[in-house]
Amino acid sequence: MSLLQIKNLIVEFPNRRGTLRALDDISFDIAPGEILGVVGESGAGKSLTGAAIIGLLEPPGRVASGQILLEGERIDNLPYERMRHIRGRKIGAIFQDPLTSLNPLYTIGRQLVETIQAHLPVTAQEARRRAIDLLNDTGIPAAAQRIDHYPHQFSGGMRQRVVIALALAAEPKLIVADEPTTALDVSIQAQIITLLKNICKDRGAAVMLITHDMGVIAETCDRVAVMYAGRIAEIGPVHQVINQPSHPYTAGLMAAIPDITVERERLYQIDGAMPRLNAIPQGCAFNPRCPKAFDRCRQDRPDLMAAGATRAACWLHDVQAGVAV
Ligand SMILES: Nc1ncnc2c1ncn2[C@@H]1O[C@H](COP(=O)(O)OP(=O)(O)O)[C@@H](O)[C@H]1O
Ligand code: SF4
Ligand SMILES: [Mg+2]
Repeated sequence: MSLLQIKNLIVEFPNRRGTLRALDDISFDIAPGEILGVVGESGAGKSLTGAAIIGLLEPPGRVASGQILLEGERIDNLPYERMRHIRGRKIGAIFQDPLTSLNPLYTIGRQLVETIQAHLPVTAQEARRRAIDLLNDTGIPAAAQRIDHYPHQFSGGMRQRVVIALALAAEPKLIVADEPTTALDVSIQAQIITLLKNICKDRGAAVMLITHDMGVIAETCDRVAVMYAGRIAEIGPVHQVINQPSHPYTAGLMAAIPDITVERERLYQIDGAMPRLNAIPQGCAFNPRCPKAFDRCRQDRPDLMAAGATRAACWLHDVQAGVAV
């Protein structure tokens, strides 16, 4: 069974002039222990998808319809306190800025011990021992001493390691990591991503890794979802999506990034920009930029459909209509 299921998720922001639909009919699953990458240009809806899953959409943003299920149970409609508990125990979160997750007034040990004891039936002494183990596992040198230090006494990279330890403290099944290395020095980004991957694989925790970096996706993820204008354009096994993209947007995205694979055929660069939410064109949202657009693309909006080794929201793959690819 899937660990996480997102079914036809719609997220809206009501405002004075009407309603902005920011996520429009998103569906995907994450299997236990799987690393799913979520990629797409800025404003595509990656962070909102993560926020909806962890129950931290900022009002007036709201889940307007659809369902989010964790281990078969709906979590999109839970009271705040219940969701807060799930957020520590079953879903861990890692954000771009480690200071969002850490309280500057408390030692990291206190924060780890509190999280462990809030969710697991262990003594304070046992919780502290576990905290030191976690810090060791996340590569904090001299963890037994460093545990009594405050967040500001760590470098940015070390702080993000502490956040990874904190996210894993209650042994969650899923980690939602939203651009976890974007704020860090380029020289340490790869180390942190490798750590995140290995530590989650070791513990059997699944990861939803949001990033705009296709290189990170290629090296880290099992599957990848490509988002465009609040929808999933393509989803599938990472190597297929990278080497044989089925959606013209994915193809353009890959062509724009050098050196992922040498063999990859260079297709074209994507001209233009992603539309604003209040100006999404009729039909396929990508049609004004798509070199393969045809009449139907300007009228009907495609849903995800089987497309080679992946699933793509693109009429080129509509077998029933008999369109040649
Ligand atoms: N608080 C908000 N109010 C109104 N619209 C928002 C808000 N937050 C996000 N959005 C809309 O949702 C879109 C997707 O946002 P986001 O998920 O943060 O994108 P990204 O893929 O860069 O993480 C944004 O481009 C914006 O139009
Ligand atoms: S549906 Fe049409 S416009 Fe959209 S990506 Fe496919 S070919 Fe291009
Ligand atoms: Mg974002």
